[in-house]
Amino acid sequence: MSYVFLFLSPMQKAAQWLLPCLLLCAAWSCSGFTDESNALNFVQRKVLPRVAPPPKLSTAQSGPMEPWLIQHKYIFACHHKAGVYLMEDLFKIVSGVLGAKDSDMGHWIQPCYPGACFFPEAPFQIWVDLYSYERAQEAREAAGAKGIRVVGIVRDPMSMIVSAYCYHHRGMEPYNIMFFPEGTLLQLGPKEGLKFVAERMLTLVENMTSAFEQPFNDTFHLDYEKVTGSSQGFDDQVEEMMSFLFQDHLPSEQISLVLNITQFVDLHRFPSTSNHTNDEECEDEVRKYVPSLPPELLSRYRSFQERLGYAAT
Ligand SMILES: *[C@@H]1O[C@H](CO)[C@@H](O)[C@H](O)[C@H]1NC(C)=O
Ligand SMILES: *[C@@H]1O[C@H](CO)[C@@H](O)[C@H](O)[C@H]1NC(C)=O
Ligand SMILES: *[C@@H]1O[C@H](CO)[C@@H](O)[C@H](O)[C@H]1NC(C)=O
Ligand SMILES: *[C@@H]1O[C@H](CO)[C@@H](O)[C@H](O)[C@H]1NC(C)=O
Repeated sequence: MSYVFLFLSPMQKAAQWLLPCLLLCAAWSCSGFTDESNALNFVQRKVLPRVAPPPKLSTAQSGPMEPWLIQHKYIFACHHKAGVYLMEDLFKIVSGVLGAKDSDMGHWIQPCYPGACFFPEAPFQIWVDLYSYERAQEAREAAGAKGIRVVGIVRDPMSMIVSAYCYHHRGMEPYNIMFFPEGTLLQLGPKEGLKFVAERMLTLVENMTSAFEQPFNDTFHLDYEKVTGSSQGFDDQVEEMMSFLFQDHLPSEQISLVLNITQFVDLHRFPSTSNHTNDEECEDEVRKYVPSLPPELLSRYRSFQERLGYAAT
């Protein structure tokens, strides 16, 4: 076994080194889920690294290829209940493995919890709960000739609200301001609760829809249903994403390393023991209440579905 290791490239060694670390840290972050006693915990869990920062490749390994400094400004965009955790992991793995410095990696979440927004000018950005058509246009203008490359994760809007109810009803993220007053959703049954989350998430889902309903040649839609549906779907989506983002600006070893390491955040390969995945039973049950949403709200969500190419449910 060890002789095989000798023949691995430095990057493969880095990958091997990273595996136990990723797993350990995943386990570590689970233990942090037990008691959320203050808002800072919430921010740390929601926003700060849940996987260890990947080892930086040395300059010799990464070479002068730093497309985020030269080619484009990169934005990872996600919205609550549409793969925020996954996008944060992909963001950290992609930017970290390619050798971006911490100060090259900016975060922005709305509302901006203490300590959760930093490096607004960084060439790699992750934007949580704020991306919209208008913000995309502003980012395009701000980037000028350099242009932007965006990865946005898109999920069926009706599934987002069903998932939000199940997730918050069992007490997750009590400090999430979107669903204040705190504890409200613990009290509400599925009918009232689904209406509550649908109202609270309306602008956010409208924004996701406006940003992604039409294709842009600088934007890649990461399909939530595909990327979470199977390992094959995960690999296909991440590979397409990488080639969209970097085209031929990176050595193939770097791309392979990123693809290899991202596999650790595929929940089909490494099921999460943390609590943030809902059980299907809850979602199946709550989905039955979709038709009893107030008609106007229901038709808004159905129009989001249609605009994004999902069958209306
Ligand atoms: C990922 O890298 C590890 C270590 O180098 C290797 O054993 C494994 O086969 C790779 N997996 C894939 C899918 O390339
Ligand atoms: C995790 O989920 C279980 C069952 O849904 C629940 O009883 C428990 O309180 C949850 N833990 C946290 C920290 O939310
Ligand atoms: C929705 O988009 C608008 C316009 O860009 C922005 O002002 C607002 O903050 C966004 N809200 C959410 C919740 O995404
Ligand atoms: C994207 O489309 C715009 C026009 O909408 C065009 O000016 C630009 O060259 C295109 N970029 C790429 C990378 O195809």
